[in-house]
Amino acid sequence: MRTVLIVGNWKMNKTASEAVAFVRELKDRLPAPSSTVELVVAPPFTALESVRTVLGPSSPIQLGAQNMFWEESGAYTGEVSAPMLKDLGCRYVILGHSERRTLFAEQSNSIQKKIRAALRHELRPILCIGESLAQRDNGSTDEVLTQQLRESLSGFTGEAMTGITVAYEPIWAIGTGKSATTEQAVAAHRTIRRVLASTASPAIADCMRILYGGSVTPQNIESLLTSDQIDGALIGGACLHVDSFATIAKAASAARPIGV
Ligand code: PGA
Repeated sequence: MRTVLIVGNWKMNKTASEAVAFVRELKDRLPAPSSTVELVVAPPFTALESVRTVLGPSSPIQLGAQNMFWEESGAYTGEVSAPMLKDLGCRYVILGHSERRTLFAEQSNSIQKKIRAALRHELRPILCIGESLAQRDNGSTDEVLTQQLRESLSGFTGEAMTGITVAYEPIWAIGTGKSATTEQAVAAHRTIRRVLASTASPAIADCMRILYGGSVTPQNIESLLTSDQIDGALIGGACLHVDSFATIAKAASAARPIGV
């Protein structure tokens, strides 16, 4: 059984001091740690150190970053590397988010290099893919997802692929309050798993987690997790409030109780 993964992508929100206050409160409000659900917070780089300190060494909440560069060190002004994130206690890194692709011109070849660098340093990449509204409307969703996966994952061994999580994030659902329906998400997840199976093998595809992201809220998380195709969620807006993130975490634990 795949462990459910709930990731809060804070984007460019919260100063380090705001982050400390937030995480202190969040820690008290989360459900008891569960072997079936993993929780991750991905604050901005500037808050990683202070969030790590508040969480402490044996916290069930893991730390993630929102991006990184593929080189280890050198003359790359403004960039942050995998060893730097690892040293700060990060376990996950979100790569290829649509905001990075759209606002910062990231393309599949650089995303692929970042995934490779993350895996080399034992960071777990969360590869984001998803179609625009125009692409959905003209019926090319499957084609777009297939192309993004093939370009970002070409050349990886099956073993490397098992370290990668894919997040299906339809661009039209991000920050719009208009989530994909469970049926739309399940259909996209099936396509993604089929492509993963043909890129690696059905057994590898079966081990890989596919998250849904795009206007996930305490109201729709339960429905999304009724499908065993949806292995968790990447959450933006709703992770910025203790109440809603804690409610989503509780719903995830209830959706996948131990032994089911
Ligand atoms: P949202 O963002 O939950 O605010 O739609 C999701 C994301 O960008 O990962």
